[in-house]
Amino acid sequence: MEDTATLRIGNENYNLPMFKGTEGEVAIDTRKLRADTGCVAFDEGYGNTGSCNSNITFINGEKGILRHRGYSIESLAENSNFLETAYLVIYGELPSESQLEEFNKSILGNVAVHEGMKKFYEGFPVNSHPMAILSSLMQALGCYYPEMTTNDRDKDLATFDSAAAVLIAKVISIAATTYRIREGLPVLYPKRGEGYCDNFLHMLYSEPNAFAEIPTEISKALNLILLLHTDHEQNCSTSTVRMVASGGANLFASVSAGVSALWGPSHGGANMAVIKMLNEIHASGDDGSQFLEDAKNGKARLMGFGHRVYKNYDPRAKILKASCEKVLDILNVQTPILEIAKKLESVALEDDYFVKRKLYPNVDFYSGIILQSIGIPLDMFTVIFAIGRMPGWIAHWKELAEGQGRIHRPRQIYTGEILREYSKIATR
Ligand code: ACO
Repeated sequence: MEDTATLRIGNENYNLPMFKGTEGEVAIDTRKLRADTGCVAFDEGYGNTGSCNSNITFINGEKGILRHRGYSIESLAENSNFLETAYLVIYGELPSESQLEEFNKSILGNVAVHEGMKKFYEGFPVNSHPMAILSSLMQALGCYYPEMTTNDRDKDLATFDSAAAVLIAKVISIAATTYRIREGLPVLYPKRGEGYCDNFLHMLYSEPNAFAEIPTEISKALNLILLLHTDHEQNCSTSTVRMVASGGANLFASVSAGVSALWGPSHGGANMAVIKMLNEIHASGDDGSQFLEDAKNGKARLMGFGHRVYKNYDPRAKILKASCEKVLDILNVQTPILEIAKKLESVALEDDYFVKRKLYPNVDFYSGIILQSIGIPLDMFTVIFAIGRMPGWIAHWKELAEGQGRIHRPRQIYTGEILREYSKIATR
């Protein structure tokens, strides 16, 4: 294959360098396009734009492949756990026993937050959305670590390991405190000797004088949900983290922006939207058939379906569907919404509208049903996603910070008014 592409504009030919990724993805390098031709590439929504080189995650959306650092999501889901996968995603290799022990220790010994942080909660109205609180408190958390939030790249990189551990650890305390305060329950400290998910579930559901008995399968299901969300290359929130970081911002500021980006219903907010949709379908007496018609006619959107990158089954959705059935079985939960979800899925997978557009269930389609069955309130679903995605954001911040990249600053095609004379207010 030629290693240059030729672009013809008018009578001029321009050679654009090409290069390949390790999985054979081919890119046309347009970095000098404007300087050489005066034109810019227009790609609203960035569907055709490679914004960076990255070694972290590989997705082949056509084939439904997801790999972190070369390991398939299926094998990680089967053999690994959230913290080990977090280490892999952040540092590039599976940890040795001692590395994993050290990493786990640095996280599990760091879960409690500074007492001063509890004061922030007093200022939030009781009905504040947990994602708004999380985004604010990720930034606030950084204020307790001035040595990690200098915005001096070398200094922030020198404290990176500690900053990463602080964020992964304390995000579960912040999330659990949000829940407890809203429910009018006393805030609990983490329990020494517990694992990551057990500790989170303890801080959510225990009483000060009685530890909650959490079935191992529940903790495992949560671990799996977090693991499956660890990273997903240049999605909206991760690109936001990289964008913010590209200006030189520290890790805490960058992930706080990532949380905000994740909140929207087209992104991480979809897990919440799926349950709302399923409940509404059930409440209306529909079995899903009418809803699918509405989705095809543009009157509704089948939440948890479709993906910018996957044009095949999202491999995470397959894993979660199996886990969902197992968890509901263990908890002996019978929920009509699982039946509706399965019906929507089976009909949509055969329906021309969805087949033609290559719309398949995504990770959010079944994760919400699991989260609901283990008692996570609806508006906390996206917070769980954020906890899972934290290592991915951290890994991307590190990758960007260690590179010599330029500030991210896209161009635009201006379509507004051309130069006008200022008119005095009396004449308008
Ligand atoms: N229900 C019905 N129709 C859909 C859906 C859906 N969920 N998703 C896409 N379509 C249709 C669009 O209307 C469009 O049809 P058209 O060609 O007739 O105009 C076509 O499929 C292509 O859709 P786009 O919106 O161009 O796809 P895009 O890549 O921009 O959007 C997105 C992807 C946002 C995920 C979209 O599929 C969606 O809104 N899905 C529902 C929300 C959701 O589940 N989001 C979570 C994504 S996963 C994540 O972020 C963790």
